[in-house]
Amino acid sequence: MKILVIGSGGREAALCWKLRQSETVETLYCAPGNAGIAEDASCIALDSSDHGAVIQFCQENSIDLVVIGPEAPLVAGLADDLREAEIAAFGPAALAAQLEGSKGFTKDLCKTANIPTAAYERFSDAASAKAYVMAQACPIVIKADGLAAGKGVTIAHTRPDALAAIEDCFRGRFGEAGAEVVVEAFLDGEEASFFAICDGETALPLATAQDHKAAYDGDKGPNTGGMGAYSPAPVMTDALCDQVMATIIDPTMREMAARGMPFSGVLYAGLMITADGPQLIEYNVRFGDPECQVLMMRLESDLAKLLTAAAKGQLAFQSLRWSADKAITVVMTNKGYPGSYSKGDVISGLDAAKISRDIAVFHAGTKADGDSVLATGGRVLNVTAKGATVTDAQAKAYETVQKISWPNAAYRSDIGWRAIARES
Ligand code: AMP
Ligand code: GLY
Repeated sequence: MKILVIGSGGREAALCWKLRQSETVETLYCAPGNAGIAEDASCIALDSSDHGAVIQFCQENSIDLVVIGPEAPLVAGLADDLREAEIAAFGPAALAAQLEGSKGFTKDLCKTANIPTAAYERFSDAASAKAYVMAQACPIVIKADGLAAGKGVTIAHTRPDALAAIEDCFRGRFGEAGAEVVVEAFLDGEEASFFAICDGETALPLATAQDHKAAYDGDKGPNTGGMGAYSPAPVMTDALCDQVMATIIDPTMREMAARGMPFSGVLYAGLMITADGPQLIEYNVRFGDPECQVLMMRLESDLAKLLTAAAKGQLAFQSLRWSADKAITVVMTNKGYPGSYSKGDVISGLDAAKISRDIAVFHAGTKADGDSVLATGGRVLNVTAKGATVTDAQAKAYETVQKISWPNAAYRSDIGWRAIARES
């Protein structure tokens, strides 16, 4: 089959790497891709916001399946337009992508379907949000309703902080995304990410992961898109996974179908494992980045068959095989990320890193320049490894990180610390 992957990050690099291993994939394209993805796929300069151009490319190249990586094209309805043109797409329709696109939508769905989540209220003006906060205990959580690139959430430890966050949102700090605000109770516990693949009716659990959002060691500093991750999440026992399927994922699937917006694609649940059991913090409607990289490292089943089955409503007949190994990924960035950073250094040591089947270096912000590879993004590379334990996988990943360099490189040196503390 012929597959087109949309995106250019480490997530899409891992998807292309895994799709390339499938015997059923004869041709793989990625739009726009990056210097590393180019080893697995033909990278093409297609603007994914131009749905007509994507459809035309698919028709001219007899594409059997389009795999949409990031949230923006999903929320913009790319999957709908492809299906309208009778092109199979992996990813939710725009209405179903509201699960990520609107926090208020998801909270209301939780209330209707009795899904465990933090108590909340929705507001469209600052005065009523502030009045509500004054009657609540701290810490309290203030969230811009829409997509705010992971920056729209404030954990306020004092009322003045909460009031300032509300003020910020309604003054337009997050643009349209902040025109509505969700105020919710603070949940105490350990966070974990849970991934399920869905075909509109059936949801199949994939695997669990934990990520490190903070920029610096010790989980300090500003939040980023993710500085590293590992899978599985040790906190997620089999019993907890079953509980998440029964109390969170399955009710979501049923409620979405009942509303006439069946969910297909990846449902990524951000969970808080509290003393009262798992609670939903938020949904994303796609693979996580960098969580996808560790999932692909552990997946033993054929990804092309799996994504095709999801796109065609045939997941009920699928089963999945996972490596018992643990996987970890360390994100190498340009120094200064998530703030401003200089870019364009030549990366050295990439060939020395290609030493074992247990290690893969997934590119994110890179660009080919003749025979060189340049570090052009905030997040540049995802050095990914698997091993019998997280400790073992971490050692392999950092050994590989040591071989790769460029003048402005930076990375965290403690990815996986919580899992490793449990192992020792
Ligand atoms: P979100 O974008 O909704 O995932 O929120 C970003 C981060 O804020 C989460 O990963 C949590 O670490 C934290 N967070 C969000 N909501 C809550 C909550 N109700 N209680 C505690 N932490 C939260
Ligand atoms: N790593 C978090 C995300 O992909 O949203």
